[in-house]
Amino acid sequence: MTAVATGRQTWTSRHLLDVDQLSRADLEATLDLAAKLRDQRTSGELGEARKRLTGHTVGLAFYEASTRTRVSFELAARELGATAVDLSVVGSSVIKGESLIDTMLTLERTGAQTVVLRHAMAGAPYLVARSTGLRVLNAGDGAHAHPTQALLDAVTLREALGGSLDGKTIAIIGDVAHSRVARSDIHALTRLGARIVVGGPPAWVAGFGAWPAVRVAPGLREALEGADAVMTLRVQLERAAGGAIGSLREYTRSWGLDEERLSWAKPGAPILHPGPTNEGIELTAELAASERSLIGRQVTNGVGARMAVLSLLAA
Ligand code: CP
Repeated sequence: MTAVATGRQTWTSRHLLDVDQLSRADLEATLDLAAKLRDQRTSGELGEARKRLTGHTVGLAFYEASTRTRVSFELAARELGATAVDLSVVGSSVIKGESLIDTMLTLERTGAQTVVLRHAMAGAPYLVARSTGLRVLNAGDGAHAHPTQALLDAVTLREALGGSLDGKTIAIIGDVAHSRVARSDIHALTRLGARIVVGGPPAWVAGFGAWPAVRVAPGLREALEGADAVMTLRVQLERAAGGAIGSLREYTRSWGLDEERLSWAKPGAPILHPGPTNEGIELTAELAASERSLIGRQVTNGVGARMAVLSLLAA
């Protein structure tokens, strides 16, 4: 799947279900396009790109809460000239019991060509891709995948670490087991040449050492030593993640990040977090707001990444 790399500004796939479907060449080209569209948008120079999706309708179907992903997909669709329709699940016939597939077919029959779907059930976007004619962009399915988060994280890291992730070490700290972000990030970052170290309570990192280019660290210091960048994850209490960790206070004592602990990583290593943050639990508010923090840049890059994906898939 090297359509982008060979100059055709499309993907051969109709859907984005996870980043593991993308070759390294596709990933690199998508990150390049994301950065370009972000910069053009910032400087008001999108030009012809503003018409790229004219006549195209993108449905936003978020069965789980979202701020960053939903807003940035909506803005991205509009910037490219598409009509964005927010399904507003809470105010839709979903609460009358309409099934996921019936809801998606209804969206398709109203004229939408693409759906951006977030769902608590892992695999829901795959089901919709098989059962409807919609193009499906996975905006997060259960604990399985969050491909556009991985793309925006890769754009952010690549720029922060000198333009390439080859040979870089990225530490991912926290609730890896329940994190769709971590899974998609591991796929994308290792394909781009990075090594991953995961650290967290044993139940939250068990089994990840079997993934290629992933090492499990026994403690926070061991996870951070030698890291070029550090990503800390949200403790996902809504996915019953709390059972593995005794208490939040205990988690923070062992795995919480502050400026002093970040100094265990390589000098100047930046800190990332997919958001929303539980400040005072995964990291301190001071660290989140510090110069080492790329959290704001991740959000900004999310619009560019989603513009790139919409542009490549829906063109
Ligand atoms: N990172 C992320 O998916 O954030 P939202 O839940 O706000 O979309």
